[in-house]
Amino acid sequence: MTICRGFRQGANVVALALLVLAIGCFALPAWAEYADVVLNKRAEKEGVRPVVFPHWFHRIRFRCKVCHAELGFKMRVGANDVLMSDIIDGKFCGACHNNEIAWGPERCDLCHTGKPGLPSGIYGGHETGGPGRW
Ligand code: HEC
Ligand code: HEC
Ligand code: HEC
Repeated sequence: MTICRGFRQGANVVALALLVLAIGCFALPAWAEYADVVLNKRAEKEGVRPVVFPHWFHRIRFRCKVCHAELGFKMRVGANDVLMSDIIDGKFCGACHNNEIAWGPERCDLCHTGKPGLPSGIYGGHETGGPGRW
């Protein structure tokens, strides 16, 4: 019967919508939250190795809004223009990597750990790679 079929199709659409919503709301941010993020918008062009940011390591210590609201990091890979002069001035990573909350900006080798040629992006899954892996 047409009404019956219409109802079943309706149910399928609802199920599909819920699935898309579930993936959109949970799967993608969870992936990003736990992986490593490589920042290489400027680093290699300016002669240093790409930066590997262990998202998971930070995310278990701080709330999202510390970085994504208060410090102004946009929630999209490659969307942030981070300069070393800003970091040294206490912005972005430098809000914590200032020799008070965490080790300071003079420790180049602890942030610029990416293998040469590594493009900006998300690396790894529900784990943190740690320096030297990517
Ligand atoms: C706390 C982490 C951190 C430390 C420590 C650090 N950097 Fe950076 N650095 C970054 C990030 C993040 C970027 C942005 C990368 C990009 O988008 O390409 C960056 C970018 C750069 C750039 C390119 C942009 C610009 O401002 O010219 C250079 C050059 C650079 N860093 C050099 C250094 C040197 C030299 C040191 C040590 C004296 C150092 N960095 C220490 C995180 C760090
Ligand atoms: C210590 C700072 C910090 C904390 C805390 C933090 N983030 Fe991030 N987040 C970043 C940085 C840095 C990037 C990379 C931005 C870039 O590539 O320019 C990022 C990137 C992202 C992205 C983009 C990845 C993608 O898929 O393109 C998402 C989504 C995100 N964060 C969500 C979260 C959520 C949700 C939380 C809390 C559960 C959180 N972040 C906590 C610093 C942080
Ligand atoms: C809200 C504070 C905060 C911000 C912002 C922040 N960090 Fe950190 N970060 C920490 C703390 C705290 C530690 C642990 C320091 C320690 O173990 O002594 C740490 C540790 C690290 C480590 C070492 C992780 C490990 O496995 O030991 C790296 C690499 C790092 N940060 C890179 C960055 C980069 C790159 C940025 C900017 C994109 C950044 N951090 C922004 C607080 C922050």
